[in-house]
Amino acid sequence: MRKVRTAIIGMGRMGKLRYQKMEEHGGYEIAAVCDVSVEKLPDYPVAKYSDWKQCIDENDIDAVVVCTYNQIIPDIVCYALRKGYAVFSEKPPGRNLSDTLRMKKTYEERKKPILKFGFNHRYHNSVLEARALLDSKLLGDVVCARGVYGKAGSMDFADEWRNHTEISGGGIMLDQGIHMLDLMYYFLGEFVEIQSSVDNLVWKDIHAEDSAFSILKTADGKVASLHSSAIQWKHKFNLDLICTKGFISLNGLLTSTQSYGEEQISYYRKDLEARDGKLGKPIEHTMCFDSDESWDYEMEEFYQSVVNGVPVRQGTIYDAVNLMEMVDKIYTHGL
Ligand SMILES: NC(=O)c1ccc[n+]([C@@H]2O[C@H](COP(=O)([O-])OP(=O)(O)OC[C@H]3O[C@@H](n4cnc5c(N)ncnc54)[C@H](O)[C@@H]3O)[C@@H](O)[C@H]2O)c1
Repeated sequence: MRKVRTAIIGMGRMGKLRYQKMEEHGGYEIAAVCDVSVEKLPDYPVAKYSDWKQCIDENDIDAVVVCTYNQIIPDIVCYALRKGYAVFSEKPPGRNLSDTLRMKKTYEERKKPILKFGFNHRYHNSVLEARALLDSKLLGDVVCARGVYGKAGSMDFADEWRNHTEISGGGIMLDQGIHMLDLMYYFLGEFVEIQSSVDNLVWKDIHAEDSAFSILKTADGKVASLHSSAIQWKHKFNLDLICTKGFISLNGLLTSTQSYGEEQISYYRKDLEARDGKLGKPIEHTMCFDSDESWDYEMEEFYQSVVNGVPVRQGTIYDAVNLMEMVDKIYTHGL
């Protein structure tokens, strides 16, 4: 198996997770890791750096994995692309649309660039099943969606880098809600009309929002509502996809914290001729999952791009630009 020699920049929670997943994959050889806080660098048997440029320059590598704060993502991505390396970067693709467009420009200047963003939710088992069900047309066509993705903030929420907008670019919507937006975009298409209420409903003294409600519409009339929340005191993930001949409901999501509940997908077929007492209570088909392979599938897709030239399918720079255009509208098209 050919080894993809890789440097990981940013060794916080995600950097360590990516390291573990790449080790488990077997097709990666981690050459170096880097973190500005050298004390965060675990005792891995690889070269260690506190300066990301030095880390990229001094190692013989094929790929760079970016797991830093959002602010520095575009600088590292553009630098690594210009050096000819394949790049995998965590979401969000920068702090705002202009960050993402900067990466797109560099991407388009390169010959055969490889760039993938970590929208891992597309690889959750319930989401893969929903995609297959929609593609089968068993339930007809999806016409609208309703999604809630919420968490409970944290004790040190106000101090987290995520809530300092000069570093993060936005609050809970950009941090977590973007995954739900990405799924809605994946299933319904690009939303061109958006209206939102983006608020600080509880954390009044931070710059980043703790709640965002949006109504979104595609050019062909599909509608969605999205609620992204850092004040959902009991963690919640729910995405309902309403189709012409049935209905899909994704509930719960397997994450490392296990706090979003068991991951399930249920579907129901429309039956308007159901016998008395059964109308509106169609047979439920439910699948439950007890493992999250999203990170593994994601690293495999990146590996196939680097080694076999397979085009990136999920999390392309073009997905990133579309998503950040929508995020931009969510933040600016207020009620
Ligand atoms: N796909 C997902 O579901 C998911 C989940 C969590 C986080 N993320 C994303 O991953 C990224 C990192 O999040 P995290 O939770 O690991 O945060 P974290 O705070 O745990 O880690 C970020 C690390 O980056 C380091 N860093 C910051 N600037 C740096 C620089 N210039 N050079 C080198 N290192 C630098 C910090 O010291 C820190 O250790 C964010 O963009 C976040 O949005 C994605």
